[in-house]
Order: sequence, then C-alpha cells, then structure tokens
Amino acid sequence: MKVKWGVIGAAGIADRRTIPGMMLAKNAELVAVMEVTMELAEKIRAKYNAKRAYDNVDDLLKDEEVEAVYIASPVVFHKEQAIKAAKAKKHILIEKPIALTAKEGEEVLEVCKNEGVLIAAGFIMRFHAYHQKMKEIIESGKLGKVVSCRGQLTCWYPDIPGAWRQTKSTSGGGALMDMGVHCIDLIQYITGGKAKKVAGLIGTQTFKYEVEDSASIIFELDNGAFCYVDSYFNIPDAAAKGRLEIYGTRGSMLAEGTIGQVEGGKLDVVISDDTLGYNAQQDRVDVAPLEVKVEFGNMYTKEIESFSDSILNNKKIEVPIEDALQVQRVVEAAYESAETGKIVTL
Ligand SMILES: NC(=O)c1ccc[n+]([C@@H]2O[C@H](COP(=O)([O-])OP(=O)(O)OC[C@H]3O[C@@H](n4cnc5c(N)ncnc54)[C@H](O)[C@@H]3O)[C@@H](O)[C@H]2O)c1
Repeated sequence: MKVKWGVIGAAGIADRRTIPGMMLAKNAELVAVMEVTMELAEKIRAKYNAKRAYDNVDDLLKDEEVEAVYIASPVVFHKEQAIKAAKAKKHILIEKPIALTAKEGEEVLEVCKNEGVLIAAGFIMRFHAYHQKMKEIIESGKLGKVVSCRGQLTCWYPDIPGAWRQTKSTSGGGALMDMGVHCIDLIQYITGGKAKKVAGLIGTQTFKYEVEDSASIIFELDNGAFCYVDSYFNIPDAAAKGRLEIYGTRGSMLAEGTIGQVEGGKLDVVISDDTLGYNAQQDRVDVAPLEVKVEFGNMYTKEIESFSDSILNNKKIEVPIEDALQVQRVVEAAYESAETGKIVTL
C-alpha cells in the first residue's frame, strides 16, 4: 500500500530534497504537484513523472487521488493552506515553522482534529541516525542526569531583495525562527525535556533586513538542564560546525555536522565512571569515545515513510505538531525576553 501524495510549493526544498526522498520511499507515491505558475508546476511534474500539475491549491485539493499533502510553501501561506487541506480531508506534513505564530499553529491543529486528519511537522533532523542514537543513549540512562545542552545552526544569508525569509510578515522571524527551531526541537526530542524558562539576546548585527540575523538563547528544561541555542545568519558556512552537545553527570555526547540536510557528521560519546571523587589536581585523562555504529540513509525518505506509515498503519507520529507548536512558543518567549530584558516563563 502506498500513500498518494500532493506537494504544495514544489519547487523549493521540496524539489531540492523532499521529493527526491519521497521517490525512494517504499510506501509513498507522488501524484500531484502545485506551484505558483503552471510552467513551474509542469516542470516539477515532468521531472518526477507525477501525474498532475496545478497552479493553485484549491485545484490540487480537489484531486481525489491525493490522500496526503506536503506543505513546503513560504511560512506566511502555511496556516491557510493547512486549514484548506484539512477541510478537504487530506493528511498533512507541514514544514517548520508551522505558521507565523504558535496561535496560528494551534488553529491549524484544531481544524485537523475536527476534520479527523493526521498532521505531522517537518522537523527533518529527528530522522538523522545519530540523533536517534543520542535519544536512545539518554533513554538508557548511560549519560546520567542531563545537565547541559547546546545546539548550533548557522549560515551566511545576506540581503536578498524580495526574499520572504527576510521580512517578518512572511517568515514570522529570522535566524531563530528559521534555523534555531531545529536545535530547540532536537534538544527537547533527544532529552525528553521541555523548556520552561527562556531568555534571549536577539538582534541584527550585520545585514539590513528586518528579521534578526543573530540569536543566542538560553533555556531551562523541566528536567533541570540548562541549554544554549545559537542561530546566526551572519557566519560563513564553512566557519561553524553545527554542534549538538549534550552533557550529563556521567558523560557527554558531542555531535558535529549532524544538523544539516544530508545525513552525516560525527558523534563522540564519552561515558566516564570518574565521578566518585573530586580531582583537585585536575590532571584530566582522556577517555576514549565509545564506538557508535549507525547506518546513514536519506532523512527525507525516512520522514515520508514514517508519516505514510502513520497514515496507513496508525504508527505513532514521529514529529507531532504539538511538539512543533511548543518549539514555537519557546521562540516567541525568546523574542519577548530579548525585547523586555527579562526571563520568560512558559
Ligand atoms: N526540511 C528542510 O530541510 C527544510 C529546508 C529548507 C526550508 N524548509 C522549510 O520549507 C518551507 C519552504 O522553504 P524553502 O526554502 O523551500 O523556500 P523557497 O522560497 O526556496 O521555496 C518555496 C516555494 O514555494 C513556492 N510558493 C510561493 N508562494 C506560494 C504559494 N502561495 N503557494 C504554494 N507555493 C508557493 C515558491 O514558488 C517556491 O518554489 C519553509 O517553511 C522552510 O522553513 C525546510
């Protein structure tokens, strides 16, 4: 059995990553694509040999063969398109951030519940084999109690006239909204904690656009750990490593280059039993990292297969929209904190 998919906003990340991933999925079939012009839609249709191309959402949603839609349009269109899709009884995989605000996202969720359709969020990084492994290690208890986490995602993103990401009314926010959300989600997903207190230093240091190009936020998880997320649009791509670090009372997991669109990077896991006494000498002895074996695949294929499996077989949704809404509340709390200079409690 295969879920028959339609793609809304098919020529951006959908074309770069998600549709190629979908083509490899065992339980999914691309049926229809929608873009803003027929020429563009037809180009994508032909590239992937889909059955039909549309230049508006209403027509795609009238397509009876389409059972699920992947919404990968600019954020400003997410809410309206998701609500329409739910009312047309299509299941929905929606890109991050879910909508311009958490409140808009809640409206989407409400409609999906009323219409009885499933919805999942596009936090693709959850499907990285190392991130799954990190979650497993936390659950095994080997790391002790998690006390500190750090997530970093940056890129070089200069002023581009007309770019929807650079205007608040079409993106909802800048580096934190676009990239920091992945780090917040990964920290909460891997540790199982939820942010309860948030503070942020957020602003524009380098470019002219109105959304932030710089964001450093800290938050405390409900399980006590202190976390730091840095997301910047003004650091050259090659200059940052995309770090994800989790420290516990018995060790650490240090990932580098895993927060990205291609499954790769490296992960060092250090478990130390050297926690019995205080070493006043501080003559640190290196502990060899544990060997962590994983098989890399295509995260986008895994994402589509996972949600298709939820549709076909009731499998638990790997990225529930409730989690994505919570991430968005953390982002909003960070913006509020940056504005007021106060720590915000969720
Ligand atoms: N999962 C990931 O790895 C990943 C990576 C990048 C972006 N994203 C998310 O995907 C979404 C799109 O980002 P992008 O980088 O592809 O942007 P993009 O600008 O590259 O592509 C968006 C596409 O949507 C089309 N579009 C414009 N208006 C539309 C409308 N009203 N209805 C339907 N389509 C419309 C555009 O023509 C364009 O082809 C965002 O939510 C973004 O955060 C996810």
